[in-house]
Amino acid sequence: MDHISLCPLIVLLLCAVILALRKIFKTVIQDHEKSAADIPPGSHGFPVIGETLQFMLSVNSGKGFYEFVRSRRIRYGSCFRTSLFGEAHVFLSTTESARAVLNNESGMFTKRYIKSIAALVGDRSLLCASQHHHKILRSHFINLFSKKSTALMVRNFDELVVDALSGWEHRGTVVLLTDLLQITFKAMCKMLISLENEEELDSLQRDVGFVCEAMLAFPLNLPWTRFHKGIMARGRVMEVLEKTIRERRNETSSHNNNNHHEDFLQQLLAVDSDGSASSSDHSTKLTDAEIKDNILTMIIAGQDTTASALTWMVKYLGENQKVLNFLIEEQTRIAKQASDKPFLELDDLTEMTYASKMVKESLRMASVVPWFPRVVLQDCEMEGYKINKGCNINIDARSIHLDPNVYSEPHKFNPSRFDEEAKANSFLPFGMGGRTCLGLNMAKAMMVVFLHRFITTYRWEVVDGDPSIEKWTLFARLKSGYPIRVSRRL
Ligand code: HEM
Repeated sequence: MDHISLCPLIVLLLCAVILALRKIFKTVIQDHEKSAADIPPGSHGFPVIGETLQFMLSVNSGKGFYEFVRSRRIRYGSCFRTSLFGEAHVFLSTTESARAVLNNESGMFTKRYIKSIAALVGDRSLLCASQHHHKILRSHFINLFSKKSTALMVRNFDELVVDALSGWEHRGTVVLLTDLLQITFKAMCKMLISLENEEELDSLQRDVGFVCEAMLAFPLNLPWTRFHKGIMARGRVMEVLEKTIRERRNETSSHNNNNHHEDFLQQLLAVDSDGSASSSDHSTKLTDAEIKDNILTMIIAGQDTTASALTWMVKYLGENQKVLNFLIEEQTRIAKQASDKPFLELDDLTEMTYASKMVKESLRMASVVPWFPRVVLQDCEMEGYKINKGCNINIDARSIHLDPNVYSEPHKFNPSRFDEEAKANSFLPFGMGGRTCLGLNMAKAMMVVFLHRFITTYRWEVVDGDPSIEKWTLFARLKSGYPIRVSRRL
């Protein structure tokens, strides 16, 4: 064949190749467009660090870490992706997603396990245990949060509050959050291990504080790091708990019934020594390590959350005179009825209907735990987008609490909105599903008790109304600690 006769063949071949390439390109572009449409909107930011810098900026802005989520929720809608500290995250903020993820009927989601946090609270903690282990642990601890325990907490907490408030008028400025952290810490220690010695309480509170700070620190265990301080503090907390357990066992074996303890530890050890309840079934018996890790967990879970929620509640109350007037009317009536007894009882709380709506409204507005992190166990679809196995998925409770389609006029502080039941899956201050807060009834009761004593005892004025949020804390709280000056209500 000469050159001339080869030419049309080459042209034909070239055309075929061009057509084939065009088709391949088209398919690739279509696939890319399709998969881009399938993944949630948002940005993965810079390689490796993702949007970590933007996250840190919002933490340092005084608006708090939630600002990072809030601004993206506005930009991208109820489902968006981001990348933080080298990991992909998706945030979801519809009641339907909350139901699917938190109730987890599909079994497709699990709580996020962070190794460095497990080193601090213990890997047998409810916060870190595997799904299966968590179920076993929770079945033990849920029994402790009975109506009887709540009634005892109400009485004890009221005593603590009355005692603490008695000195406030002579103090000049009271930094509300600081005092509330102390009161709630004492309440937790009394409920869990009957610890009341002031010196021991002070030292334990300091150590638990170091553990909490370390939970947010970079997990580098070197002598000068915050993380190391937390690990050392955990060791000291464990020693205190070991000593307490040893003393309890000695009391039991020597039949010393003079020290009768009405606390969670005693109940856990009673199950331990009760042959019918435990020795026949070793698989369900709690080990000392499980007991210790979870006592520390419950102190952390109950102290800071409740103190922060109480501080927000006083702030909202101070800003809403009409609500305060309603409340004063209700609470002075109840104070008169209960004047013959030194401390409130659980039954007294059932009459405080407006106060309990006030508590719910404060919890909605404050969203002390703003989002709930989970991990996706298999590829799935949420809100029309594909989410890959291994991705972190966060239910943004705060956005749901402030969604005008869920709560009308969501930024208005209005306890009467709870005259009616909230919409399904929309009230999430304590989470939902198999990980719901174990202390929710107790926390609400504590908030009502404090409200009753505080507003029937004092008027107050705010010394520093700075709304900035504290930088590195586990739960949203005011940087100023909300300093107030009180005077007796006559
Ligand atoms: C206003 C106060 C409180 C708030 C806002 C609060 C909020 C929460 C939330 C949102 C969760 C679930 C997080 C998730 O699903 O990932 C939780 C879990 C938990 N809370 Fe609370 N809490 C409060 C008070 C308490 C108190 C007083 C206790 C008593 C010790 C407590 C004990 C616990 C425990 C043990 C868990 C872990 C439950 C589990 O993983 O199974 N909380 N809390």
